[in-house]
Amino acid sequence: MSEQHARVALVSGATSGIGLSVARLLARQGHRVFIGARSGDNVATTVKELRGEDLDVDGTTLDVRSADDVRTFVQAAVDRFGTVDVLVNNAGRSGGGVTADIGYELWQDVIDTNLHSVFRMSHEVLNTGGMRHKDRGRIINIASTAGKQGVVLGAPYSASKHGVVGFTKALGNELAPTGITVNAVCPGYVETPMAQRVRQGYAAAYGTTEDAIMEKFSAKIPLGRYSTPDEVAGLVGYLASDVAASITAQALNVCGGLGNF
Ligand SMILES: NC(=O)c1ccc[n+]([C@@H]2O[C@H](COP(=O)([O-])OP(=O)(O)OC[C@H]3O[C@@H](n4cnc5c(N)ncnc54)[C@H](OP(=O)(O)O)[C@@H]3O)[C@@H](O)[C@H]2O)c1
Repeated sequence: MSEQHARVALVSGATSGIGLSVARLLARQGHRVFIGARSGDNVATTVKELRGEDLDVDGTTLDVRSADDVRTFVQAAVDRFGTVDVLVNNAGRSGGGVTADIGYELWQDVIDTNLHSVFRMSHEVLNTGGMRHKDRGRIINIASTAGKQGVVLGAPYSASKHGVVGFTKALGNELAPTGITVNAVCPGYVETPMAQRVRQGYAAAYGTTEDAIMEKFSAKIPLGRYSTPDEVAGLVGYLASDVAASITAQALNVCGGLGNF
């Protein structure tokens, strides 16, 4: 793919875990990749790391909870690389606890970070990013198997991810005639810094060790282990490709068999 025709991909939360693997894979596929996360230092370090691998990557700070940030981020990407062909809504947070004990602030922040952000980013990319005027586009939302099944002590997280799956199906159907596909990728347990924080939370809630939680979770996965960020990125890369043109409005698991639908 010549530089002139290289497709432009945006990845939120690309400084860690799944987002970092996705940014790297899309760039290796020939996309020009624009990344964002809240920590400007981490964005700069990640851009440097990926450029060191000869990849065409840039980025800036982004808090997906802020409409102003989202507008500035998408405009910066267009100014730098051109209109947007691929959007990966990956930024997200864990969050939960005993539902009767959690405060409204936690509820609101989880829903804002994981769900409202997906609307904000998609809306901005369709307009400022120019995607709605193209005859080919890809919106890929990183949801979760928790977007299909209820997770104990994870009501805000599960609710936010179910919302992402619903939004994906509705927008996918709406945009299907345009050549823009919209899909959700639903990881199960994936070894990332977030997964470590989640294990810490359950260890505290159940009064046990993180190792015991790791064993308990791994035993629930038919494959017998966590998925890797690269395994999740692999499906994102496929959905971004031309041969995935007829896959839309789907929520596809990468979970070692943890979820069956
Ligand atoms: N790991 C799992 O087991 C698992 C399973 C299912 C689904 N997922 C989903 O996969 C996605 C990525 O998870 P991960 O495990 O890779 O997490 P991670 O390692 O914690 O990375 C999260 C990334 O998102 C960024 N981020 C967090 N809040 C943000 C905000 N408000 N605005 C912009 N960027 C933000 C972080 O950077 P800053 O902190 O600097 O902003 C970081 O780059 C999430 O949507 C998560 O729900 C993960």
